[in-house]
Amino acid sequence: MKLSKPQTDIIFVASLTLLFGMVASRWELSEHITEYSYVYEHIQLDEWPFSFLVLSMGLAWYSWRRSNEANLELQERIRSEQKVQELLRHNSDLTQRLYSAQEDERRALARELHDEMGQTCTAIRTEAAVLGMGKLDATGVAQCAQRIALSAQALSQITRHMLQQLRPMVLDSMGLADALVAQCQQWQNQTGVVCDCKVDTLPAGLSDYLCVTAYRLVQEGLTNVARHAHANHVMVRLKVSDTGELVLSIQDNGRGSSHTDASQKGFGVLGMQERVASLRGEFHWHSKENQGVHIRIQLPMEFA
Ligand SMILES: Nc1ncnc2c1ncn2[C@@H]1O[C@H](COP(=O)(O)OP(=O)(O)O)[C@@H](O)[C@H]1O
Ligand SMILES: [Mg+2]
Repeated sequence: MKLSKPQTDIIFVASLTLLFGMVASRWELSEHITEYSYVYEHIQLDEWPFSFLVLSMGLAWYSWRRSNEANLELQERIRSEQKVQELLRHNSDLTQRLYSAQEDERRALARELHDEMGQTCTAIRTEAAVLGMGKLDATGVAQCAQRIALSAQALSQITRHMLQQLRPMVLDSMGLADALVAQCQQWQNQTGVVCDCKVDTLPAGLSDYLCVTAYRLVQEGLTNVARHAHANHVMVRLKVSDTGELVLSIQDNGRGSSHTDASQKGFGVLGMQERVASLRGEFHWHSKENQGVHIRIQLPMEFA
């Protein structure tokens, strides 16, 4: 049987005590000490052995307490280290997901550029070549010109869509409040789900990053409602709180989903949380089964 270190220590101390007891009884140590100390009774030397006994018991108690405290500190440190490791793992996992999401987005844009824009440009070039041959009569020229105009219109639509994906231009032209209202209106038209959107008057000069963040948070929140909630009503609110923070709330009346489910499955909710964390904000998720999801986000105000 292999003994642990504390067990061998205790055996060592017990053996030492036993050995000392045997030696002391062989040499009548106590009697000698008493005899010797009695001579110095006037300076109370005979009381010292007991005082030392109390001191050694006190020291034993002190070391027992210190060792308990050290144990607790050690456990706390181990827990902190595990937490740090977990956070590091979470961080690298998130970075990987972020990069792959970025790659997906670029791939989608590249596909759109190649398929949509490429084809439309080829169509325009072909029509222009036919026109250039000069063999068409007046009606043919008019039809050809019409097809070129239609292709150009399609091109501008594609460009607008791609720009919107890269950066919500409406933010520049309308400002955050109106851009959010427009986004909710457009989402309602697309999905047929009622979207009740109210936005407080916002202070001027909010930072661009804060505006883009709020816009993207609503975008992801609404996308999730359309995808997962099976709701027929959603409420979007953006307010300025008494403590001077932006409070964004997205609440649907769908099937609901627990927060742990939500943060484990997709990148969307995680991305929302990361965006909020990057502004040192707070992200709260409330939901009960069949009572919808309520996302409440607090963002500290940041100015440009
Ligand atoms: N409004 C909602 N209602 C019900 N479930 C939701 C809602 N929003 C998110 N979820 C749940 O959270 C999960 C994670 O969402 P998300 O991270 O955006 O990933 P994805 O949309 O790609 O599945 C979803 O798969 C869904 O189960
Ligand atoms: Mg999503």
